[in-house]
Order: sequence, then structure tokens, then C-alpha cells
Amino acid sequence: MKKSFASDNNAGIHPLIMDAIIKANEDDYISYGDDFYTQEAEGLFKKVFGSDIDVFFVLNGTGANATALKAMLHSFEAIVCPETAHIAVDECGAVENLTGAKLLTVPTQQGKITVEQVNSFMHFTGDQHHSQPRVISISQSTEMGTLYTQAEIKELADFAHQHGMYLHMDGARIANACAAMGIGFKEMSKDLGVDVLSFGSTKNGMGFGEAVVFFNKSLAKYFPFIRKQSMQLLSKLRYITCQYKPYFQDDLWLKNAMNANRLANLLYEKLSDIPKLKITRKSEVNAVFCLLPKDKIEHLQSKRFFYTWDDASGEVRFMTSFNMCENDILDFVSFLKEELT
Ligand SMILES: Cc1ncc(COP(=O)(O)O)c(C=O)c1O
Repeated sequence: MKKSFASDNNAGIHPLIMDAIIKANEDDYISYGDDFYTQEAEGLFKKVFGSDIDVFFVLNGTGANATALKAMLHSFEAIVCPETAHIAVDECGAVENLTGAKLLTVPTQQGKITVEQVNSFMHFTGDQHHSQPRVISISQSTEMGTLYTQAEIKELADFAHQHGMYLHMDGARIANACAAMGIGFKEMSKDLGVDVLSFGSTKNGMGFGEAVVFFNKSLAKYFPFIRKQSMQLLSKLRYITCQYKPYFQDDLWLKNAMNANRLANLLYEKLSDIPKLKITRKSEVNAVFCLLPKDKIEHLQSKRFFYTWDDASGEVRFMTSFNMCENDILDFVSFLKEELT
């Protein structure tokens, strides 16, 4: 079976995680999180991040972002984020719908927001005619396959806190970021001053479900009600939470993310040899962006589907996944070579 380079969302479930789901199916358990697996998962998150956190499990990444942000601000406040942020482009307004808050987006080349850009909104503060900036939201890794350095994250967190704001991290691909930077989840988030983390793992071997991790516990006060009201509380929650034991055990998360990142590097290298294709960005995690001849894109997509990132320029995105191997890369590259010559 040919692998899909459209998204790491297209990959299946890691067999060890599938085994855990099957095991959790053997018995009946109390619903809505009062079960063995959910308690075990909470313990695992406390091992990773320290015991002074609150963690809640939700259905998907959009749900994690929208509910996390709902807990962080009022409807008359605003979230400052890059214009390429998933919350701004790919969540059908879920965040605006749930929070009622305004998104203040800024243009970026590489999907990363700077303190200077956030600062440009600070004159709104205290003026009743403007939505009040309350949260900075960043994605790590970003939607453009790039990474914030630890210093950049800390600078944003410090700025937020100096101005009575909070820092939210969309960690849909935090595992790929940690693997690329050689640091752990805690070093990437809590230790740098992130207040709330949307902790993703579906793109890295789990089947479904994400976690919202509160490092600023005061923000978690109403979260159980927000989650329920937002339809993000799964009755059979154990099917989400049973997946975390294998995910964390023996660093499965790290092995998965390292494999996807390594193969993206290989893909980058091999694609550089195709003259009709021009790589457009650094590949820091598991995505490779490039320009294809516009008249070829539709045809290529009909054979091996992938997403167009920018219709105007013909920029497309290829993604590698935890379950690919070198041969999958070579096969895809030879397909592109053949079609583009
Ligand atoms: C950066 C980022 N955040 C959040 C999400 C949302 O995840 P979901 O599709 O599970 O709602 C995605 C999904 O692709 C993503 O890429």
C-alpha cells in the first residue's frame, strides 16, 4: 500500500496503541473519566510535567485549542496569533465561535510571531472600543514546519506575563518539535512559561483524542464545565486515555517523531535533485514545502493526493509520518521524478 504524503493525519494507529485500545475494550469501566485508564493517564502527564498541573482529555485538536482558549479569556478579549495559525485558518472559526473573542492575526514568513508584533496591539489595552489582547497563541512546531527556539518562546511568555496576558501553545506536533530540538515536553512548554498547552498526539501514532494541560492552574477552574458544554467530553473516555501508556512507554512518542522528522530530511534531500521542483522552506520537522509547475499539480494529486498550500504560487506541502520507512520516500520521489520529466 502506497503511503500518503498529504498529512500525518492520514497515517494509522501505532500497533502498540491499537493493542491498548483492544485491551481497554475487555471490561466495563465507569464512564466520563472516572476510570482506571484516565487516572493512569493523568498520572503519566504528572510524571512528564510535574504534579502541579491539571490535565483534561478532549476529542480532537480543534477541541483542545477552542476549549483551552475559552478557559483563558472573555469574549471582549483577543488572541494574538500568526495569520497562518491553525486556529485562524483551519478550524472553521471554532475558537471565535466558542470564545466569542477576536483573533488578531499578524503576517509571518515562517509561521512565527514575534514580541514586536504582539506589542503593536498593546495600545488597545484599556480602551473600551477595542478587544483587549489577553492571549498569545503559538504553534510548536508551526503550520509552516518551522520551530520557535526556546529563547523565542520564553520571550513571548515573559512579554505576555509582563502585560497581564497568557501564552497558549498549540502542540498538535509538539512531539516532532521536541524530537527535532532534543528536549522534552516540559522543557518545551512549562519551563518556558507556557500557561496552557494543547498536547497533540494523534499525528504521531495515536488514533484520536488530545490533552489540554494547564500549567497555570487558576485557568483550569471552569474547564470541566467548558469541556462538557463544548461537547468535548467523551463518555467512554478510556478509549482516549488508554493510549497514553504505550505512547509514553519506552519513548514511543520520541521514536515515532524522530522517524517522521528523519524521513522528511531524506525527502528534502531527494527532492532537491528534481529540477522542476523548487523547495521553498527549511524543513525543521516532518513537512517539506515546495513549488511545483502549476499545470502539473492537479494531475499529480489525482495519483498521489497532497495539499496545495498556496494556489497562487503553486506551493504544496508534503508530510512524512511515524509509520513510513525509507522505501516509502524513495518510491514517492521516483513517482515525482517520473511525472515531472
Ligand atoms: C497545528 C495544528 N493544530 C491543531 C490541529 C487540529 O487538529 P484536529 O484536526 O484534530 O482538530 C491541527 C490539525 O491538522 C494542526 O495541524
